[in-house]
Amino acid sequence: MALKITVIGTGYLGATHAAAMAELGFEVLGLDVVPEKIEMLQRGEVPMYEPGLEELLRRHVAGIEGSSGRLRFTTSYEEAGAFGDVHFICVNTPQKHGEYACDMSYVESAFDALAPHLTRPALVVGKSTVPVGSAARLAERLAAAAPAGAAVELAWNPEFLREGFAVQDTLHPDRIVVGVAGERGEELLREVYATPLAEGSPFIVMDYPTSELVKTSANSFLATKISFINAMAEVCEAADGDVVKLAEAIGHDERIGKKYLRAGIGFGGGCLPKDLRAFMARAGELGADQALTFLREIDSINMRRRGHMVELTREALGGGGFLGKRVAVLGATFKPDSDDVRDSPALNVAGQIHLQGGQVTVYDPKGMENARRVFPTLSYAETALEAVRGADVVLHLTEWREFRELDPAVLGDVVAERRILDGRNALDAALWRKAGWTYRALGRPSA
Ligand code: UGA
Repeated sequence: MALKITVIGTGYLGATHAAAMAELGFEVLGLDVVPEKIEMLQRGEVPMYEPGLEELLRRHVAGIEGSSGRLRFTTSYEEAGAFGDVHFICVNTPQKHGEYACDMSYVESAFDALAPHLTRPALVVGKSTVPVGSAARLAERLAAAAPAGAAVELAWNPEFLREGFAVQDTLHPDRIVVGVAGERGEELLREVYATPLAEGSPFIVMDYPTSELVKTSANSFLATKISFINAMAEVCEAADGDVVKLAEAIGHDERIGKKYLRAGIGFGGGCLPKDLRAFMARAGELGADQALTFLREIDSINMRRRGHMVELTREALGGGGFLGKRVAVLGATFKPDSDDVRDSPALNVAGQIHLQGGQVTVYDPKGMENARRVFPTLSYAETALEAVRGADVVLHLTEWREFRELDPAVLGDVVAERRILDGRNALDAALWRKAGWTYRALGRPSA
């Protein structure tokens, strides 16, 4: 009989995982403690913008015409416990308030709520990003609280999906990492991932702590790559070099690689920044803090980008204050093809300028609603053209395709001054300059 799967927590990770499991042919029950989220999902609506996810969901949610009916949702742990052979824990692990460490309370409540309902053999699979050592601790807790006792196993199976590519990354993972304590966990996960395994996705089996570390070290490496190129951007600015050319040239060395070397206002989002910090905090607890002190520098290079963007804007406006100046901001999300504004560099820059007296108007193709919620005091425009109307300077802060396709001549007709700062090194400098704009980007010569 085919395995029955539950997915606990239906945020970016869980909603995508649940739909993907149904696509792979399993009967799936998704659980969330927020009833409104469950109601939306039951209607086949996704609570966030993620390309392709709504279509995938609608293909499987029970009750939707033409769907496979393999995907259902609930708020009941009792129902989840009775239903599942494999339970994926996909709740979030944000940064603790006022601390670097990771807030494990959602993970712990998910385990505590599920365990008493595990009355028959089952595999619980952690997907959330957790500090190393959590899985071993949670396995003990599970064994003690589950009525089925030793027949309930735990595996750790970190997730590497990128927002904006969540569906693709989940259905066709570039690797499947599993941390296990016994053979049954590995066997069941091979069954769950039979389709991607047949497509050739590598399946890498290890112990719990290594699997937890794989995730945090992967994100730390990615963050390091971005901060490296941003540090080079700082040097390029001081030396009149061009960081875009530099990245292209070093990227030809296969050991370095071209990807993830886009200099700009740096990384944000719900993962990289908090994962770095939680990793440092955990290393400190383990007495290995020296090994990760470099991550402090990675974090500060990154945070410096935002302040630097504000200063470049001030300079572009003549070096005085922002008072009475009109600043148009294109982009609010932490990256394109997402509506996520968590720790968004773009919104941070917009906010800083606003707090210093600038009149900031923001436009983003998908992030307006979330941005308004986080920063209700900024002005928002319905289109890019409206945002730049009367602007003394335009800031390009999230590299949406829509912004690359803007016509500089059309925008030039409505701004007060043709000045643009490209915080993502993604616009065609020659095109903007040809249309009479002063174009400046981070880490590149000014003319
Ligand atoms: C990141 C990782 O890429 C995923 O592998 C991981 O699974 C995920 O975190 C997670 O831990 O859940 P994501 O946060 O969706 O995924 O976003 P990325 O595409 O990695 O971008 C992160 C930030 O870095 C964005 O703000 C982006 O603008 C910035 N970035 C990225 C750069 O500034 N330069 C680059 O070259 C690449």
